[in-house]
Amino acid sequence: MNIIIINGPNLNLLGKREPEIYGKLSFKEYYQELTEIYSDHTLTYFQSNSEGELVSKIQEVGFTADGIVLNAAAYTHTSVAIADAIAAVTAPVIEVHISNVHVREAFRHHSYVSAVAQGIIIGLGLSGYKLAIDFLLESSQT
Ligand code: DQA
Repeated sequence: MNIIIINGPNLNLLGKREPEIYGKLSFKEYYQELTEIYSDHTLTYFQSNSEGELVSKIQEVGFTADGIVLNAAAYTHTSVAIADAIAAVTAPVIEVHISNVHVREAFRHHSYVSAVAQGIIIGLGLSGYKLAIDFLLESSQT
């Protein structure tokens, strides 16, 4: 299976950024673990701080990938353009958030992504990315 993880703004700072919320592990370290676990599959990773680059990446991979694991970070709460890109492509998108956005500030409670995602994993830390991949792999077998 060909699965891509797409991370939005500030997620390049995982490990350094508010570790009490997002943990101490960098995404590079976590992604290394994922590539070892899923060595039988093609896993790729893309991160951008720019909304347009995220839209372009979803367009680029969204007709060929078997699944997209997307943490659009702050753009989750603001971006109609990212939601439209997800609706336009054929790959299933699983929305992931590391923190439980529903116990945080009210502006984090709404997601433009949720209405166009196949499913949502929120508040389970970095494990959410692995759970999303497991779901995509399992659902491709049914
Ligand atoms: C986040 C939650 C967002 O509200 C925030 O802007 C992020 C990270 C999460 O993974 O918990 O950057 O998507």
